[in-house]
Amino acid sequence: MKKIVIGNWKLNLDHLEAIQLLQKLNYSLDVNIEDKIDILLAPSHTSLRSLQTIVDADSLKIQISSQDVSAYTEGAYTGEVSAMQLQKLNITYSIIGHSERRLVFGESDELINLKVHNAVDNNLVPIVCFGEPEENRNSNNYLPYLLNQVNLAIKGLRKDKVNEIIFAYEPIWAIGTGKVASVENTIEVLSAVKKEISNKPFYDEEKTRFIYGGSVSPTNASELLNTKIIDGVLVGGASLDTDKFVQIIKSIKL
Ligand code: PGA
Repeated sequence: MKKIVIGNWKLNLDHLEAIQLLQKLNYSLDVNIEDKIDILLAPSHTSLRSLQTIVDADSLKIQISSQDVSAYTEGAYTGEVSAMQLQKLNITYSIIGHSERRLVFGESDELINLKVHNAVDNNLVPIVCFGEPEENRNSNNYLPYLLNQVNLAIKGLRKDKVNEIIFAYEPIWAIGTGKVASVENTIEVLSAVKKEISNKPFYDEEKTRFIYGGSVSPTNASELLNTKIIDGVLVGGASLDTDKFVQIIKSIKL
């Protein structure tokens, strides 16, 4: 399975800074790296058009993802950006259900499911995030909690619509905290999710990817990225530092 490394820039960088960082990153990457590793950046909505235009014009080695997408197609939904609008910009991926959206903006499992449907209907690859809070991890009740979150996010997806889907395990206690889940924990969770998903009609052994996110850094990336079941990583803080992000990418043994 082709590994994937995604940089989630969150609410950082204006579009000029984003352009600079995209170009710096592209320049730092090995020739033809895109044939071996999918490298994605998820900037703020305001930078999507500039970055995607540069990627297309100069055939960069990087692909662009949105950090979120609306659950709605069009109409009276002030402040929303639809999957169709993103697709018109040539954007091919969208992060959906990040824990910051769930916790800070109160996004429910139902809303996230609608977003996944809208993404898939418009040929966007959903990067579906799920993860347990610390109390849940400590009470050892995390697997049923996580499987339920995943099942609700993908409810009703039809095989003929899903080309590719990425499941990102992001334990809430590991995001931005410097505490990374152990490789054993991650394998346990991703194996359970994979088992759950593998009987769904849209599961595709060649295309469905399972990744990890939460305090990924140059120090822990190699162990995570060179483990078979972990198909990639979602990187927050360290993706804003090109040297660190490149080190993470280069830690993949090709
Ligand atoms: P972090 O964020 O790498 O800063 O922990 C990960 C994420 O929120 O996707």
